[in-house]
Amino acid sequence: MLYIGIDLGTSAVKLLLMDAKGSIRKIVSREYPLYFPHPGWSEQNPEDWYEQTIEGIRELLADTDKEQVAGISFGGQMHGLVILDENDRVIRPAILWNDGRSIKECEYLNGVIGMEKLTGYTANIAFAGFTAPKLLWVKENEPDNFSKICKIMLPKDYLAYRLTGVFCTDVSDASGMLLFDVRNRCWSKEMEEICGIREEQLARVYESYESVGTVTKEIADTLGLSPSVIVAAGAGDNAAAAVGTGTVGDGMCNISLGTSGTIFISSKNFGVDAHNGLHSFAHADGHYHLMGCMLSAASCNKWWMDEILNSSDYQGEQDKIPALGHNHVFFLPYLMGERSPHNDPNARGTFIGMTMDTTRADMTQAVLEGVAFALRDSLEIAKDLGIRIERTKICGGGAKSPLWRQMIADILNLKVDLIEVEEGPAYGGAILAAVANKEFESVEDAAEKLIRITATIEPDPETVDLYEERYQKFRRIYPGLKNIFKEIVR
Ligand code: XUL
Repeated sequence: MLYIGIDLGTSAVKLLLMDAKGSIRKIVSREYPLYFPHPGWSEQNPEDWYEQTIEGIRELLADTDKEQVAGISFGGQMHGLVILDENDRVIRPAILWNDGRSIKECEYLNGVIGMEKLTGYTANIAFAGFTAPKLLWVKENEPDNFSKICKIMLPKDYLAYRLTGVFCTDVSDASGMLLFDVRNRCWSKEMEEICGIREEQLARVYESYESVGTVTKEIADTLGLSPSVIVAAGAGDNAAAAVGTGTVGDGMCNISLGTSGTIFISSKNFGVDAHNGLHSFAHADGHYHLMGCMLSAASCNKWWMDEILNSSDYQGEQDKIPALGHNHVFFLPYLMGERSPHNDPNARGTFIGMTMDTTRADMTQAVLEGVAFALRDSLEIAKDLGIRIERTKICGGGAKSPLWRQMIADILNLKVDLIEVEEGPAYGGAILAAVANKEFESVEDAAEKLIRITATIEPDPETVDLYEERYQKFRRIYPGLKNIFKEIVR
């Protein structure tokens, strides 16, 4: 039997074909545009996701016996607001996870409704990227669009809807909407009321590894698949990546260095960070997790390389970096504002500390370090909660750089376990489809059987000390600039 894992990302959809033993047969990727209609706003066209996914599945299966395909599932970019009218037409472009327009709505939710109540209802507070504040933004700024809403969906759930006709979501992705009671794994009546929506506008919620149904006849005919192919609910991309890296059960950690940067800690038990620095979400393994999310991670390096240095030689630029631990330049990686831990859509990217002898390599190094320091901010919160972590897995585009991986090990003082298959969310999606098709007893059983550690990067004690000193300086820069960011924001 074969399983298709679909990672619906921000820059591209990545599709992976896995057999029942967990071996990867093929991977394809197809890009689509990302729109920034205003500084700090971020949108995409759901039709682009669908078209590229269909083309991607065609390409993925071009030389495969399609009868062997038994299941499909997803890891999807989280929090995006997709709204459909009574004819199932997309009402406006999707507002994405890294869109900062809903500042006022977050102030209303956190300030007027109050963080304590929100935490009681959903286990989380409002962040600009979350879905509910964006819904309130549409209500206030586009009342005509708001009045047309029949279905409210997340990005990967739009794909599931087009593939199966089932209006569904899963617990991990629903957790990031601020409409979901994470502890009890159901919609929050209070949040529905606050946002002025009705339960029938929200999808039926499944566990990530549950089948929601089979592909429609039309999809089966279009793709040459059997109409018995099941579609599992899937997960938000971070929970799917955690499944794909074996970060399941209790106390495991995964770092994702993608467009966003996340630190994901799995837990058998429900828990909330009293200061709301970390998100408290349901996990795709049936349990829970805590997560810190920075909005620009590998995308900072991409911006620096593509837009500023005008170089495609990522490796070459990193080879010029003389030594880890030594650098007089700091970079704040807040190119799209920041989520964890500052919750500040006005924060901005910043270089600080340059002198006449600063080199290009120092600045490249500062960008990579800035991302690692910002991830460390979230790790510090986990430590304050009494969570002890000694090792982590790592995935995402940025994790392909050996230098960046070593930097993460040294700055976070964690052992970094490398795994055989680095395709986090797409691999996790395929595993969830296989679990839904009863190839494995549970997500944990699948992870135990399929995920193999191939090497471990040890933190270097001397560099850890050097970076400790630099981190203590880094963490004082943002508070000093916070008010200035507010004044200079466009
Ligand atoms: C997580 C988050 C991002 C997106 C990226 O809360 O916003 O990691 O899921 O796709």
